[in-house]
Amino acid sequence: MSNNSAHIIVLGNEKGGTGKSTLAMHIVVGLLQDGKKVGVIDLDARQKSTTRYLENRFAHQQSGHSDIEVPKFTTVRQSQAESIKAREQEEQTSFHSALSQFNSKKDFIIIDCPGNDTYLSRLAHALADTLITPLNDSFVDLDLLGQVSPDDYQVKKISFYSDMVWQSRKYRSASGKPPMDWVVVRSRLASIESRNNKRVHAALESLQKRVMFRYVPGIYERVVYRELFPTGLTVLDDKKVNNLSHVSAREEVRTLIENLRLY
Ligand SMILES: Nc1ncnc2c1ncn2[C@@H]1O[C@H](COP(=O)(O)OP(=O)(O)OP(=O)(O)O)[C@@H](O)[C@H]1O
Ligand SMILES: [Mg+2]
Repeated sequence: MSNNSAHIIVLGNEKGGTGKSTLAMHIVVGLLQDGKKVGVIDLDARQKSTTRYLENRFAHQQSGHSDIEVPKFTTVRQSQAESIKAREQEEQTSFHSALSQFNSKKDFIIIDCPGNDTYLSRLAHALADTLITPLNDSFVDLDLLGQVSPDDYQVKKISFYSDMVWQSRKYRSASGKPPMDWVVVRSRLASIESRNNKRVHAALESLQKRVMFRYVPGIYERVVYRELFPTGLTVLDDKKVNNLSHVSAREEVRTLIENLRLY
């Protein structure tokens, strides 16, 4: 899909529940509000969180909220074919047909990956112009990128996931594309003052030079991110809600989108 003119944003890591789908939805709505044309591909056909979020949004729009924008979206399923080769071929075909649905009609294609290593997820990583990896505030999550010494934050080992991203980058440069921008975002942060927060921060500062990602400020753990799912809305939608948690959430999401440097 080298002729795809849309900018491909992939939400990926190999860890469940770090906030990929929540971030995907917020980035989608942020881009729509900025007047961008957006298509969404959900590669997590088992959980379908993003698909369901968008279906809820569509239902909300249809129930008298015509001002709510809903992007076009599609889900790509894992193949059930018997041999690995046949599965991979079928998944390549369905993935590329999902992409070509949006090809040249959209400014951005957002791809939400499952929280484990799948062939479809690898295909998406290989095409990412921007890869966003959300990470929770924990050394367990950090291990997904690499092992860091707890004393002086020296990088001891690069993880399988970082290695996979490295392979994707090699593939991109071999096909003459500009370098992938890998952005690591912390999500579901507890408190900026916590000791763990500071330690994970220091470890990421150290890892980013070695693994070559950009580490940018992320989003905090807030009830508001969870409670909007049934209506398919995001913190960016209802500007009339002005309680502190909403305003702070809106600001952190907007800052994140700016930090992605997409336009
Ligand atoms: N910043 C946040 N504050 C509070 N809850 C959050 C936040 N981000 C995500 N959640 C909640 O955490 C859970 C996991 O989030 P989400 O589904 O976005 O993660 P994911 O990385 O897509 O998971 P998976 O790997 O299983 O697809 C959900 O219940 C979601 O509502
Ligand atoms: Mg998800």
